[in-house]
Amino acid sequence: MEHRRRALFGGAALLVALATGLAGQSAAQAADVGGGAAPNVVGGTNAAAGEFPWMVRLSQGCGGALIASRVVLTAAHCVTRTGTNTSITATIGRIRLTDTSTGQVIRSTYIFRSPTYASTLTRDWSLIELASAPTGVPLLSLVGQGDTSLNNGDFTVMGWGATREGGGQSPTLRKATVPFVSDASCQQSYPQDLAPATEICAGFAQGGVDTCQGDSGGPMTKRDASGTWREIGIVSYGNGCARPNFPGVYGEVQSFSADIRARISSTGTIIR
Ligand code: ARG
Repeated sequence: MEHRRRALFGGAALLVALATGLAGQSAAQAADVGGGAAPNVVGGTNAAAGEFPWMVRLSQGCGGALIASRVVLTAAHCVTRTGTNTSITATIGRIRLTDTSTGQVIRSTYIFRSPTYASTLTRDWSLIELASAPTGVPLLSLVGQGDTSLNNGDFTVMGWGATREGGGQSPTLRKATVPFVSDASCQQSYPQDLAPATEICAGFAQGGVDTCQGDSGGPMTKRDASGTWREIGIVSYGNGCARPNFPGVYGEVQSFSADIRARISSTGTIIR
């Protein structure tokens, strides 16, 4: 399993990974290119101010979510390594990224990267600690460890990523609704890449709606029975964006949420 996806690395895929500055992607992850004419997050609409208050834009071109007072959850492939890091800025509470009159911009202090990502290319999660706690921002709750009860129906995804395959980043936060795709079905699309125990898929068989480049690390969400937003998935990879029969693949939070929680202190920082 360790080499399952590594073997998919080709020269072109590596070039794409390097060009995007994102670390360690497989062919399907990096084949996030390919000049498609997929419709216009792809197939989404603008998010409203305050609709997803915990949503974060990271300066390296990824999404994330505030899950503890000073901790942003994002993808492992959005960061390089565990350790001190003061080079990332997190923007919170700002729908239009050029609108400097709203929201808060806070620098990183430390990163924890999923320790098994580099060798397996699954469990695509990492934590970014912020220099200070953003004020007045509610946290996004993780789905509980082993809780698959929300793995069905529709999910809400969001980000400032490309609004079509091969397109530029969106200046404004976009959102879209995508339906759950079973492991059995998703395995037909990604027979080499899918790690069904730790990844969850979402999208329409006909395509048209999906996350895309620059959405990585952002949350795939759903309200639980009590109406509370829960982070069910983390934007990870896909073959292109919004292509028919190629759903988006997301890190399956319920399969590693205990590992995430174990890295967060009672004061909302990362445990070194
Ligand atoms: N790997 C991409 C990124 O770094 C995310 C791709 C998601 N692709 C998809 N078809 N859902 O932003």
